[in-house]
This record gives sequence, structure tokens and C-alpha cells, in this order.
Amino acid sequence: MAVHDLDADVEARLIAAARDVWDRAYAPYSKFKVGSAVLAATPSGTEIFAGCNVENASFGLTICAERNAVFQAAASGARSVIAVAVVTDAPVPTMPCGACRQVLREFGPDMVVVGATLAGEIRRYPLSHLLPDAFGPEDLPAN
Ligand code: THU
Repeated sequence: MAVHDLDADVEARLIAAARDVWDRAYAPYSKFKVGSAVLAATPSGTEIFAGCNVENASFGLTICAERNAVFQAAASGARSVIAVAVVTDAPVPTMPCGACRQVLREFGPDMVVVGATLAGEIRRYPLSHLLPDAFGPEDLPAN
């Protein structure tokens, strides 16, 4: 999907959902709060699922906002993600980390990634631009 194919109202709702969950991010160590929301296709239409980063005193166990959001979608039965929004209070929009790009790709090689700051700056990229020549389900032998 091309970045301009994401409806402006839908994008605004996605960013609002990510902004909302940003407030609940648990980031006492890094102080870098991240909110994320994915727009997923479900049997009953499209739905938005949100997640925030959740850190841990055992630092390596921290989970990113984007993975929490996509796992919520998957747990609800969704298998197709159309777009993801990432909200932070950074000076420029934050893009998903490498691990999250791979996890997102599983459910939406054609998804649009939208980064937004609390101040309102927005950047949009196709996931295929952020993770070119990716490994995915189609690389595994059919079973
Ligand atoms: N983080 C995310 O939640 N998503 C990203 O894409 C980048 C990093 C979190 C992990 C950690 O809690 C904090 O940001 C600093 O790395």
C-alpha cells in the first residue's frame, strides 16, 4: 500500500490510539515512552489495537510498543495489518526498531508505517522501505 492510500481520518484515529496508550507506557529506566497502534483487518471489518513499551528491571526483557500492539491484534484473530502508528515525545518521529519491523512484516508486508511526535510531526513510509528484501513466511517450505 502506498503511503497516500491510507485515509486521512483513519490515520488520525490510528495516531490518536497510539497517543492514548503512550500515556500508559511503562518506561521507568529509559524514560522513553512509546505508544503504538495497528490497523488490522478482522473478520468483522477493520479494527485498531494498541500497545505501549513495557520495560523490566531485567532490561533485556523489555518489550516494544509495536510488538505489544501487533500481538494484541494477533490474539484477537487478526492476521492482516494495514498500517501501524508509533507515537513518541522525541524531536523527530520514531520508526520501529529492527526487531519490530520483522515482527510487523509477518502480518503485513504492504503496511504503511506512520511515525508521529507529540508535537504533531508525522512521517510515513511503506514497511518495505524500512525492511527491504525481507525474510518472511513465503521463504519457508509449505507445510
Ligand atoms: N522502544 C519501542 O517501544 N519501540 C521502538 O521501536 C524503539 C524502542 C522502546 C524500548 C525501550 O523501552 C525504549 O523504547 C528505549 O529503547
